[in-house]
Amino acid sequence: MPEQQARRVPGTDIPLEAITLGTSALGREPGGERLARELVSGRFRQLDTSNEYAGGRSETLIGQVIGDGVTVFSKADRDPGTGVFDGDRVMRSFEETISRLGVSTLPVYHLHDPFTITVREAMAPGGAVPALVALREQGLVGAIGIAAAGGTLVEDYIRTGAFDAVLTHNRYTLVDRSAEDILRLATERRMLVFNAAPFGGGILSGSPRHASRYGYRPISPEFGRHVEKVRELCERWGVALPAAALHFSLREPRVHSTVVGITSVERLKALDALVDAVIPDGFWEELEALGAPPPSPVD
Ligand SMILES: NC(=O)c1ccc[n+]([C@@H]2O[C@H](COP(=O)([O-])OP(=O)(O)OC[C@H]3O[C@@H](n4cnc5c(N)ncnc54)[C@H](OP(=O)(O)O)[C@@H]3O)[C@@H](O)[C@H]2O)c1
Repeated sequence: MPEQQARRVPGTDIPLEAITLGTSALGREPGGERLARELVSGRFRQLDTSNEYAGGRSETLIGQVIGDGVTVFSKADRDPGTGVFDGDRVMRSFEETISRLGVSTLPVYHLHDPFTITVREAMAPGGAVPALVALREQGLVGAIGIAAAGGTLVEDYIRTGAFDAVLTHNRYTLVDRSAEDILRLATERRMLVFNAAPFGGGILSGSPRHASRYGYRPISPEFGRHVEKVRELCERWGVALPAAALHFSLREPRVHSTVVGITSVERLKALDALVDAVIPDGFWEELEALGAPPPSPVD
């Protein structure tokens, strides 16, 4: 994996891995206990979760298996009932998370999808961001991040200067470059960058089950035609579409870790071969020659 990605989590001595296993699906289906065990005992030992994934079950399952050498990043979520997302809620969310995980500190803790509040409200005294900063100052959290879709909301949070990390999703992939400004702003500030959903939520995994959606939304015919062109390019080069999708993110020096959604033990086992795949340089040149992707459903 590229040298540029070797880095430590700010505020900790924990080395950052280029692959983070995404656990938003963990606990949604039966068999979560087995998947959780596999997630912490394989080649990749860095996990991304959140207070609200599977209603808290993702964190609970991870907490049952977490051990030495496993790094877990989590996120503060708004109150699921009221939507309130103030400083008190961040503190409660943190307490819930560390209790489910059975840990006392978190290396990275993100503000997750703050869609019920404005940036101004989040930054005000008593707001969500001062609470995150307090957790960092108390040494309970190594780095604080903003984890949300993309666009101006994330850019505005980055510009506050309060954050050490950013997680964007579905916006820097084989078929979408709309996180370009986020990558630029974060790099200027030497922030840690997580690029989540390299498969666009599934369409770039090649599975027909996900063929009509990108970033969890229906695709336009124009976008579908572009995906088809990329798929044909992969075929011409004998490259698996999900391998190209993963390496598009892994080879990007401004991305420090790529967050891949793992839905099953089979998907986890398949990840090894995707990571080890070698994609010829000529493939990337031809991808570039296809031109800028059309707007995706998440733009
Ligand atoms: N706001 C946020 O903080 C935020 C938002 C989005 C995502 N995330 C994080 O990023 C992670 C990834 O996002 P995501 O799961 O939505 O998108 P993704 O990683 O782009 O796509 C995941 C899908 O790709 C397929 N897949 C996974 N491994 C594969 C493999 N080895 N071969 C072929 N297909 C494979 C799976 O499809 P099947 O369903 O067919 O198995 C899975 O559902 C999440 O779990 C979460 O941790 C964070």
